[in-house]
Formats: sequence, structure tokens, C-alpha cells
Amino acid sequence: MPLSENKQFWEQAWADGRTRFHRPDPNAGLIKYAQTIFDSGDRVLVPLCGKSVDMLWLSERGFGVSGVEVARLPIDEFISENNLDGTWSDHSYQVKGQRISIFHQDFFNHDGRYEAIYDRACLVALAAPLRVRMAERYKALLKPNGRILLITLKHPTADGPPFSISDEEINRLFAKDFSIELLEIASAPVDERTIEIRKLELLCP
Ligand SMILES: C[S@@+](CC[C@H](N)C(=O)[O-])C[C@H]1O[C@@H](n2cnc3c(N)ncnc32)[C@H](O)[C@@H]1O
Repeated sequence: MPLSENKQFWEQAWADGRTRFHRPDPNAGLIKYAQTIFDSGDRVLVPLCGKSVDMLWLSERGFGVSGVEVARLPIDEFISENNLDGTWSDHSYQVKGQRISIFHQDFFNHDGRYEAIYDRACLVALAAPLRVRMAERYKALLKPNGRILLITLKHPTADGPPFSISDEEINRLFAKDFSIELLEIASAPVDERTIEIRKLELLCP
């Protein structure tokens, strides 16, 4: 899918309120594993951030946060629903008094170097060819020994988003550059889904 089509798809999803993925509370996997995967003070990239309150949870625990979101609506809602104050400069919003920056841009145009990435419902949001590009960008955006907290889904259909991601695909995307540790498989209350939580760590060259 071309990036322009992907952008249109998600802008329409937000405009139509097709956002069942959004949760009012911080993600249980993040709460359980953040402090074992991220080091104190790390700046964590949240690649396809929506209006996730996980960004606030990370900031409250002393992590820096850089969210990247292609649609403007969730960024505006993130700011208003959480009563945040801050300033826009070009395409990025800096939250006042917190280490949170939100970039209104396509993730595939985002640059930077991060200690860690938090992916909940990001890889699974994209069609297969974009997932290959996403894994390449993850490697490029991480500093040496960079880590990823990766939360994906499995379900019995080929439909998406969210797309079901097999072990074989995870290995194909990441095994040559990352060590991969499966931390947990949990069942989700909908559609025979299972949630998989992994720690990935960039291998030294
Ligand atoms: C399934 S949602 C997950 C949002 C968030 N991670 C969460 O846990 O609530 C995927 C988000 O990625 C955004 N998105 C999709 N493609 C993108 C891209 N190429 N660059 C930046 N954001 C994108 C969508 O607008 C949507 O908000």
C-alpha cells in the first residue's frame, strides 16, 4: 500500500471513530515489562502513537517520549483530553513540563536515534510490505544495544488491521539484527486473539 493511501486510511478511521484499539488505561504489558526492558531515563520512541495514554505513563516514570502520528486528529485529542499545555514548532508538539514530544508526520519520514522503542499495535497496524520497511526503520532509529518492547497479535483470519503476525514473520523481520525473547502469550477477550509480548535487543555488529 502506498504511504499516501495508508495515511488516508488512518485519517478516515480517526474521523469515523473506528478506533477500538484505543484504550483509556495504560497497557498491562507496558506496566509489567517497561522497567525490565527500558533503562532509567531512556528516550522511548512510540512509532504510531495515536493518542495513547501509554505516553503519559512512560513520562510519569521518568522516560523521555517521542510519539509519531500521521493523523492530526488524535494528536489534538491527546492534548485536549489530557489537558496538556505546550507549543507547536513546525510539525512537532512539545508538552510543557514533560519530556514528551509528538511529531505530526509519517513514521517513514521520521529521523532520530533512540535507546528504545515501544510498539503496541504499531507493526500490526500496517500491511505486510510496510512491515518490512518498519523493521528496517526500527534498526536505523536505534542506538547500539537499543531495545524494543514489541506487542503483537495472532488471530485466525488474514484480515486487518490489526494484522495477525506469525512467529515466522517476526523472525524474518528481526532475527538477523536483534535477539528476540518471547516474554508472554496472553489471550485477549475478543475474536480468538492472542497477544504476544517480546523483548528485542539490537545485536552488536
Ligand atoms: C492501531 S493504532 C495504534 C495506536 C497506538 N499505538 C495505541 O496503542 O493506541 C495505529 C496508529 O498509527 C497511525 N499510523 C498509521 N500509519 C502511520 C504512519 N505511516 N506514520 C505515523 N502514524 C501512522 C494511525 O493513525 C493510528 O493512530
